[in-house]
Amino acid sequence: MRIVSVVGARPNFMKLAPVDRALVKRPGVEHVIVHTGQHYDPDMSDAFFEELWIPAPDHHLGVGSGSHAAQTAAVMERLEPVLVQLRPDAVLVYGDVNSTLAAALVAAKLRLRVGHVEAGLRSGDWSMPEEINRVVADRLSDLLFIPSRDAEANLQAEGIPAERVHFVGNVMIDSLCWALPEALERNAPARHELREGEYVVVTLHRPSNVDDPATLRVLLDALRSLGRRWPVLFPMHPRARKRVRALGVVPEGDGDLRLMEPVGYLEMLGLVVGAALVITDSGGLQEETTFLGIPCLTVRPNTERPITCAPGTNRLVPPRPDAILAAAERAVARRSPARPVIERWDGRAAERIVGVLCDDERLDDVSMNDVALRRYPVAISAAPAYSHEEVGT
Ligand code: UD1
Repeated sequence: MRIVSVVGARPNFMKLAPVDRALVKRPGVEHVIVHTGQHYDPDMSDAFFEELWIPAPDHHLGVGSGSHAAQTAAVMERLEPVLVQLRPDAVLVYGDVNSTLAAALVAAKLRLRVGHVEAGLRSGDWSMPEEINRVVADRLSDLLFIPSRDAEANLQAEGIPAERVHFVGNVMIDSLCWALPEALERNAPARHELREGEYVVVTLHRPSNVDDPATLRVLLDALRSLGRRWPVLFPMHPRARKRVRALGVVPEGDGDLRLMEPVGYLEMLGLVVGAALVITDSGGLQEETTFLGIPCLTVRPNTERPITCAPGTNRLVPPRPDAILAAAERAVARRSPARPVIERWDGRAAERIVGVLCDDERLDDVSMNDVALRRYPVAISAAPAYSHEEVGT
């Protein structure tokens, strides 16, 4: 059996890693990795392959940056001959980036079986390119691997037949469980001269937050004010870095706002685990903070991951300094010592995906969280601020 995974952008790599590890354990399965090249900076791509032990891609399409149409078209044009030559039994696409949409289109038109990892999430916000990518990728997919039950209702509402939908859990959490012991060992806060629970980590890169100079200026003002209360670390995505540079803003005043280069997966995870608070517009960080029980403010009007808001770890905030500062104080003060437990966010999502792909397994409704907590005691007990009692083992 030959399975092709197509990935292209940073958040895809954490989703691919556990699937690759589960597939290589299967005798008779060949897993071919295609990197579209949507992200190409070493710290946006290579670093993640190395840290997550993902083998070097078998094919690299080298598409790079461009308008949405140009980028999507370039992936389609360059991927088609690769898939024609490989004739895989299934093509896996991940998340909601332009590479996901492009690959799903090419594979579906070649009448190949398409599997979408992280299917069914909906923000309802058609102004987000990711929402368009998600809806189209889901429509084109034969196997929809959903991370949470809310996704099931979204797909049902769109008329996707239930037999295509598989509630496997969250592959981002598979990667987190796998990497947490090493991330903790690296002691990231100390290397930045920070004390645990006494700093804020920020990631903002969405066009809605960084492309409009007025909004970006307001956000930087808010972060600078926050920097008077806690040190604020802002590892910048290249898009954000470019916009901040264009603005010509140099952080001033007595606050501690650190504008940094992007950091790798392990360092980011180590920083997040020790943070008092995370401020973000990323999807992955909303999930990771929820799993770890770290307060998170999401600077967006909506989220396709409402499951991260339900336990109270994640809150949506508008891009206004007063709102961000007040929400930050509240979130830190009200932090719960207990870590939320979300169904099937347990480190075994990739295993379930491979069961469906290779063995035609149907998943029953029995939650396997208890099994995962037994399997990952090191990761969970090594993390500060929670104990096995708190997570229910
Ligand atoms: C993409 C995804 C977004 C995801 C984000 C994570 C889409 C529509 N968006 O957004 O969902 O949250 O990745 O990072 O697919 N750039 C570099 N080096 C790189 C990559 C990008 O300098 O390695 C710069 C280029 O100026 C580029 C810009 O960042 O034009 C945007 O890159 P692009 O891949 O188009 O979208 P992202 O904003 O990264």
